[in-house]
Amino acid sequence: MARATSTSGAVADKPVAVEPLIRVQDLAVSFDNGSGPRIQAVDGVRMSIYPGQTLAVVGESGCGKSVTAMSSLQLVPRPPGRFDRGSVWFRSRLAGELGSSNGEVDLLRLDEPRMRQVRGNEIAMIFQEPMTSLNPVYTVGDQILEAILLHQNVDVDQATEIALKAMRDVGIPEPERRIKQYPHQFSGGMRQRVMIAMALACRPKLLLADEPTTALDVTVQAQILELLRELQVSRGMAMMLITHALGVVAENADVVCVMYAGRVVEYATVLELFDRPLHPYTRGLLASIPKLGERKDRLVTIREVVENPAEFEKLPGAGEGVRPWWPWHQPPKDLAAKDEPAGDYYLQEVSPNHWVGVWRTAAVRDHQSRPPDLAYILPRQATGAA
Ligand SMILES: Nc1ncnc2c1ncn2[C@@H]1O[C@H](COP(=O)(O)OP(=O)(O)OP(=O)(O)O)[C@@H](O)[C@H]1O
Ligand SMILES: [Mg+2]
Repeated sequence: MARATSTSGAVADKPVAVEPLIRVQDLAVSFDNGSGPRIQAVDGVRMSIYPGQTLAVVGESGCGKSVTAMSSLQLVPRPPGRFDRGSVWFRSRLAGELGSSNGEVDLLRLDEPRMRQVRGNEIAMIFQEPMTSLNPVYTVGDQILEAILLHQNVDVDQATEIALKAMRDVGIPEPERRIKQYPHQFSGGMRQRVMIAMALACRPKLLLADEPTTALDVTVQAQILELLRELQVSRGMAMMLITHALGVVAENADVVCVMYAGRVVEYATVLELFDRPLHPYTRGLLASIPKLGERKDRLVTIREVVENPAEFEKLPGAGEGVRPWWPWHQPPKDLAAKDEPAGDYYLQEVSPNHWVGVWRTAAVRDHQSRPPDLAYILPRQATGAA
């Protein structure tokens, strides 16, 4: 049971019972690298998404965004991939069948037949490059129908009706004609709409959208995001939105998770993150956005912001000696706890609803902590917040 607040921080009158739809706990995934050391793609990632919420996952190329999303659906090839640690708890219809007492199942540990019942059904994923996810030798209709027939107990006529409706819902004109066409007969934007129609035909509770608009031009990007938002509101669907674009985050997310080098370095509501970025990497990221009317001779480098931890130490949840985790730095030696491995990373709540990756030192260990969990943040669509 939690008190509901909007993203603006106002507390609603009635407490609302909310449970996370998905909780990623200490996920670590590595890849075999031939003779070299394994590549630790993801190392202790934590996040949670509530029904109807949009969690944006941002961070530079290779930081582990796709691996995090794909692990949840067991789409990471194993080998070379391997789940080293962690769980991905999901509130699933399978919970009863699997004898789960709290309604959650660990997606990392489902067998393949059960995983198939979740994939494309309770959770759908759309990928960055729609052409690689659509099969060029089958018509678009065949592919949407296949997705529906696989997951829903309907005959071909009913499935066709669902497919046509899904195409209409995502704004594909003349679906009766288009359903017989092949992927190459669609523009990039229309192909991405087909992918969304396919993903949404089964009415998933959660959509994993991995850079759904990166391959598209700006106008089409805006249309697709608008479409996702509308569908999300009308269906109360939750979304993990992976993106490079901070503008997309500002306009679409409720909660933001910033990743760097396989870790979560910052986790907060969208307003909090843009208003008061705390981790040097996030600051660097935000400082690098050129602002209208502002002349910048050069972009601030991340290194520059990292070098000044003084301000960070003043935070209530941080305190003296608490330093932002940063892979290129050694942990503060004076405070390194004797019984903790040196260089350990910890996700610390340094102010209400605001987590930052810090070095795990004695100071951090003694501080009360909880995993990032923004139950109080209702989707902005539901609260009407701007
Ligand atoms: N199949 C694979 N085999 C080996 N290494 C992999 C594989 N998939 C991912 N990796 C490695 O895991 C790390 C994280 O990759 P991931 O695809 O999650 O990055 P990303 O944050 O999604 O980046 P981008 O923004 O470029 O999509 C990278 O170092 C990548 O090289
Ligand atoms: Mg990726």
